Amino acid sequence: MLSAARLSFRKTSLCFPDGTVALREVDLDIAEGELVSLIGPSGCGKSTLLRIASGLLEASSGEVLCDLDGLGYVFQDPTLLPWRRVQKNVELFAELHGLPKAERAERARRALRLVGLEGSERRFPKALSGGMRSRVSLARSLILEPSLFLFDEPFAAVDEITRERLNDEIIRLFCLSGFAAAFVTHSISEACYLASRVVVMTRSPGRVHAVVEVPFGYPRAPELRFEPAFVEVTRQVSALLREGNTGEGAEL
Ligand SMILES: Nc1ncnc2c1ncn2[C@@H]1O[C@H](COP(=O)(O)OP(=O)(O)O)[C@@H](O)[C@H]1O
Ligand SMILES: [Mg+2]
Repeated sequence: MLSAARLSFRKTSLCFPDGTVALREVDLDIAEGELVSLIGPSGCGKSTLLRIASGLLEASSGEVLCDLDGLGYVFQDPTLLPWRRVQKNVELFAELHGLPKAERAERARRALRLVGLEGSERRFPKALSGGMRSRVSLARSLILEPSLFLFDEPFAAVDEITRERLNDEIIRLFCLSGFAAAFVTHSISEACYLASRVVVMTRSPGRVHAVVEVPFGYPRAPELRFEPAFVEVTRQVSALLREGNTGEGAEL
């Protein structure tokens, strides 16, 4: 069952020092064990919203509730350290948190198994494909067993087939671990496939334009993407995106 909110924004606004208003009165709640997608035009403030959630940026006004203790953050760029092997890259956050050597090695092995990279522990990042690098980045965040994940377009740079596989991976991990997540993406199909709710943002300065409920349970089968009910949800999100981008009404 869903219970307490893991992440809440109440009338959260952000104005950068140069006067750019990035967010205007955003209201959003993500409950424990809920996977919510955020979609909106480039520059509408999606990354800014996640930065505020993680404490990297402070909101100009409004309230933010986020438990930083169990937070995982996955960026578009995997930002792996090229001189470290996969195993040591995955151990990084555990190292920074001061976990003992044997424990972080064991956790890294477990995380690598979860993302399907068993056997690649001793490879260097340059020897990996884009999809594999994304998996390493995911494993690196999984190692601290977060209760809330912030995903900032983590698969934007990988090809569609790989992205679909990685989406299935996320759903599998989500079903296994029950974390809550805010998943920022440009892809309508990805947003709808992953989430139980899709939050559609307006163009800059970003606000929540609409929220679409995705009426499918978990786990989700890859074939769902071709079912008429799923296509209908993507059509709704697409229409709302256009509406929020132009400010004109759209026919749903
Ligand atoms: N440090 C900054 N100073 C001023 N403006 C910024 C800064 N960072 C981002 N912006 C602006 O804030 C808006 C939102 O940016 P961002 O959150 O990165 O958008 P998105 O992730 O949705 O593409 C954009 O107009 C961007 O140019
Ligand atoms: Mg961004």
